[in-house]
Amino acid sequence: MNLAVVGTGYVGLVSAACFAELGHTVVGVDIDEEKVKKLKKGICTIYEPGLEELLQRGLQTGRLSFTTDLLEALPDAKMIFSAVATPPNKDYSADLNAVFTVAETVAENIDHSIVFVNKSTVPVGTGRQCEERMKKIVEKRGLDVHIPVISNPEFLREGCAVQDTLQPDRIVVGINGNVQATEFMEELYQPLTRVGKPLLCMERESAEMVKYASNAFLATKISFINMLSELCEKTGGNIRDIAKGMGLDDRIGPRFLHAGIGYGGSCFPKDVKALMALSKETGIPLPIVEATHKTNDHQRKRFFEKFLSVLPEKATVAVWGLSFKPKTDDMREAPSLDLIPVLVDAGHTVRAHDPVAMENAKKILPQITYTDAPLAAAEEADAIIVLTEWDTFRGIDLSALKATMKGRYLFDGRNIYEPEEVRNAGLTYVGIGIN
Ligand SMILES: NC(=O)c1ccc[n+]([C@@H]2O[C@H](COP(=O)([O-])OP(=O)(O)OC[C@H]3O[C@@H](n4cnc5c(N)ncnc54)[C@H](O)[C@@H]3O)[C@@H](O)[C@H]2O)c1
Repeated sequence: MNLAVVGTGYVGLVSAACFAELGHTVVGVDIDEEKVKKLKKGICTIYEPGLEELLQRGLQTGRLSFTTDLLEALPDAKMIFSAVATPPNKDYSADLNAVFTVAETVAENIDHSIVFVNKSTVPVGTGRQCEERMKKIVEKRGLDVHIPVISNPEFLREGCAVQDTLQPDRIVVGINGNVQATEFMEELYQPLTRVGKPLLCMERESAEMVKYASNAFLATKISFINMLSELCEKTGGNIRDIAKGMGLDDRIGPRFLHAGIGYGGSCFPKDVKALMALSKETGIPLPIVEATHKTNDHQRKRFFEKFLSVLPEKATVAVWGLSFKPKTDDMREAPSLDLIPVLVDAGHTVRAHDPVAMENAKKILPQITYTDAPLAAAEEADAIIVLTEWDTFRGIDLSALKATMKGRYLFDGRNIYEPEEVRNAGLTYVGIGIN
């Protein structure tokens, strides 16, 4: 099937490359000329395991191509996917400008019926709004053309996005009645449904909500355990043991119960905030969602304050991990963005290491030193803080670390170390919810 995917960021590029891998012919469209230039050459613009291989295979087979001009992609496309960003506005609502721009450009230029699929995370009612906007434009042009809008939210996780896309837990499709659009979606995902992956068809409004509901629920699990971690620090108890004791109950499950400095990234903070904005707009209280956001903020602040309080004046600080989570170079809403400017403003020297995010970090945080290894960042450091749980930090030789450092503090923002082992190496361990 011929498709266009508009927006070739974390979601759009992975979707485009995976659809091509599944045998479809895909044109990826992006307004970022530099990005498109690189993609045309087979250079992956994000760090995502397995993606560059798919990109290059797609280009070689001719099933995948890229352009900056949406109009080039329209004539042959049966379906057009919008995977543009929907960042938060100041009032926490989702900024839908890019989504509407794409929808309107399609309606202004299409000369045949086409299915418009929203892959971006958008509030309930956005599909209806897109459909109405496009209908108005098409009618004004005097064309007998139909553009049904489908919601097909994306659940991929950065760091294992290719695997998540090719082996999804579920594919959610929100369609309000259009039979042909349903058939197209079934044909598109047939390579996955054939091997048993469930495709759930539901109302478009439900599909739009599933995405927010899933992310807010996972964020709530994280905030719940983080909330208890603070209590443990006061009462005694080890949050890791508590999480294990809870998680083995299969009604609860062990995932998303790791205490740490809270969630970040481009999705959880934004989607939790978007639900809060929806609560305000509709007048329907969502107190659990609000508490999730508040707890996340508090958790990060209180750990950073503890860290700042032990630093001598003009300290040298090693920051391990810059991306918002491991296996990605994505810096959006990463804890490092909150902490590093505060450290620099307070007159401390920051030396940082991250296995893949340093190139992106340098663009936003040019004022610090980057090193090519964790131990190099720790040289003569008064204290270390772990912000991202990369495997390379887990396996560090703690005695070598102690010998490299000037001070003794190891702040473990992700609870990746055994406190005993760190203390045995002569360091002072500070974790989260662990005494
Ligand atoms: N990143 C994730 O892990 C993830 C997971 C699930 C869902 N989502 C959702 O998917 C959407 C996209 O997220 P992302 O992380 O891929 O964003 P992104 O910022 O990485 O990518 C968006 C891309 O769209 C391009 N773009 C913007 N306006 C455009 C236009 N008018 N025409 C063509 N291209 C345009 C940008 O240049 C950019 O390359 C968001 O709604 C997000 O919430 C993201």
